[in-house]
Amino acid sequence: MDSNVIAELKNVSRVYKMGETPVYALNKVTLSIGKGEYIAVMGPSGSGKSTLLNTLGGVDFPTEGEVYLSNTRVDTLPEKDLLNIRRQKLAYIFQEARLLSSLTAIENVMLPTAFRPASNGTSKDKSHALKMLDKVGLGKRASHLPHQLSGGEAQRVSIARALMNDPALILADEPTGNLDSKTGEEIMSLFGALNSEGLTIVMVTHDPQKASHAKRVLRLHDGEVVEDTSNHKFEICEV
Ligand SMILES: Nc1ncnc2c1ncn2[C@@H]1O[C@H](COP(=O)(O)OP(=O)(O)O)[C@@H](O)[C@H]1O
Ligand SMILES: [Mg+2]
Repeated sequence: MDSNVIAELKNVSRVYKMGETPVYALNKVTLSIGKGEYIAVMGPSGSGKSTLLNTLGGVDFPTEGEVYLSNTRVDTLPEKDLLNIRRQKLAYIFQEARLLSSLTAIENVMLPTAFRPASNGTSKDKSHALKMLDKVGLGKRASHLPHQLSGGEAQRVSIARALMNDPALILADEPTGNLDSKTGEEIMSLFGALNSEGLTIVMVTHDPQKASHAKRVLRLHDGEVVEDTSNHKFEICEV
């Protein structure tokens, strides 16, 4: 595989058997995600957006086809190897920030290091976590508990947490779905800034305004990719 390719789906289908009728959550999806891309995944409810993201994230598995992260085929990996790859390469951002309520902002950001036994909670981790909080504009909120943060701030903490292990790929499922439109736009500006620093992002959204921040738009319908375009509006802005 080309070293600039971070993730690839080859002819991937995900079929659920509902009685006699098969439901194709994904239907023969072939897709390649390059380093530095910013992709919006759009489509109506039930069109397979979350299944696509979960398949890329190694938490859902195809009924047919192949999934690659960097140069490794992941859909057939033993669970332990897959977990390692997920921890090293991927970070998820959800609609809800999913912070642990008894931990401060910085402790939440440090959580991913808990899976690296050798370096758990070192001062190096702490200063890196603070740097990530600074990056999302929340350096001054490091000791706040989740209930002392606004919705947008909590989501930014979850983004700092996602950045903690320097992932190759960020998978975001409706990351602004719970936020008012102004706060949502702030999160989109942050995604834009992170992407211009080279971070690769795949973001599910059904909001065209949010999708307009991405460089490429994938549109799903009944599990099929019905459109895969570079974002012309974005390109015009760039010129
Ligand atoms: N566990 C499941 N069992 C049966 N059908 C499922 C399951 N998960 C998802 N589906 C079906 O797969 C399709 C795609 O789901 P999903 O990826 O969640 O769509 P989206 O995120 O675009 O709303 C839907 O028709 C949904 O009903
Ligand atoms: Mg979904």
